[in-house]
Amino acid sequence: MQKTKNFLKYDPIVYSLETPKYHLLQFDANNRFSGWVFNFGEKKIDRLKVYNDGEFVDHFMVEGLREDVGGHVPSILAAKTSGFDFNLHIEKNSKQLTFEIIFDDGSKEPFFEFDVAKTLSQQAYLNQLREKITSLHKPDGDLVYLTQGHYNVEEYQNSIIPGVLNMRQYLEQSGVDLNKVHSLLDFGCGSGRYLTGWHLVAPLMTLYGCDLNAILMSWAQKNLPNQIKCLRSNLMPPLPYHNNQFDLIYLISVFTHLSLKAQKIWIQELKRILKKGGYILLTLHGELYVRNNFWKEPQKVEEFLSRGFTENGASSDEGANHYGTYHAPEFTEKLFDEFQLVGYFPNGRIDNHRTLFQIAQSQDVYVFQNNE
Ligand SMILES: C[S@@+](CC[C@H](N)C(=O)[O-])C[C@H]1O[C@@H](n2cnc3c(N)ncnc32)[C@H](O)[C@@H]1O
Repeated sequence: MQKTKNFLKYDPIVYSLETPKYHLLQFDANNRFSGWVFNFGEKKIDRLKVYNDGEFVDHFMVEGLREDVGGHVPSILAAKTSGFDFNLHIEKNSKQLTFEIIFDDGSKEPFFEFDVAKTLSQQAYLNQLREKITSLHKPDGDLVYLTQGHYNVEEYQNSIIPGVLNMRQYLEQSGVDLNKVHSLLDFGCGSGRYLTGWHLVAPLMTLYGCDLNAILMSWAQKNLPNQIKCLRSNLMPPLPYHNNQFDLIYLISVFTHLSLKAQKIWIQELKRILKKGGYILLTLHGELYVRNNFWKEPQKVEEFLSRGFTENGASSDEGANHYGTYHAPEFTEKLFDEFQLVGYFPNGRIDNHRTLFQIAQSQDVYVFQNNE
């Protein structure tokens, strides 16, 4: 119990590296580095400094207009001008790019590292994945908006490979032997973003997905590869799967939109269809999201800090993106007390390092095992 106790409360650096994703990095060529980053606090990020194998290359301003980001983060003015966009020439003999944040008061802190050597060593494999993914169908902007809250189809498509590679890393770090994962369920799969990724990286796995949204499910059933079996499910259990059917069930930003009452009922249903010794990976909104979404409602923040949980939205909106729930780690551990916590990655961080590509923005990632 209380394995999550000694972790940082939340990482105030909120970001997205939109290009280049791992599988799109070009060697001995110019690469466009673009995305956004802001500090969830008083200090504003002024620029990024980039080092190639420890040697300073250049610095780049963080000032590009990003109304889309600002729209989601009303509490931080700087989110509106959090864009960066610059070119970097990447040589094949380069090993690591290091990015550093410079704040407007002159202070600095490490941002993240891009492991160029590792990407180069996997280039043949990443190229293969890239070719395969471009031949698959992709949803249009309106469908993308239903699950991601943005209309950028390219960003959606490019997030699939890094996302699934990242999910694999969370699982491996939690002690999951992926060779023993033969069947998985993506609960709340939307248009099957990550199912497509698993189909590419683990073609022998049996892949299932379910979602309550009829529009998304109808698209998924028509457009995902045949090996992926999707069905439309209901807001509440049961699901039409056998007892002990799955080795792994994952929920990417799904309990973030279900009431606590519904979550408790779903946990029992997920336990029923999960094998003994099987795993659940899920992402949840933590304190960062509470402080952003309730910046004008201090009593909600207080409730979260004392109870470890809060939610907002009308019960008729349950399951939709504007119904929000927020979990502190200790609360989550208790909620899943029939399971064993085997992995906790606050804001998606691994070993206290930011990952380049998060699976669900700054949400916390948990891995639980179904006790034998
Ligand atoms: C934020 S979207 C994430 C979609 C997908 N997991 C991804 O990462 O692309 C949340 C999804 O959960 C689905 N959902 C919410 N409650 C659900 C429930 N009780 N059963 C099945 N799906 C649900 C929604 O319809 C929506 O597609």
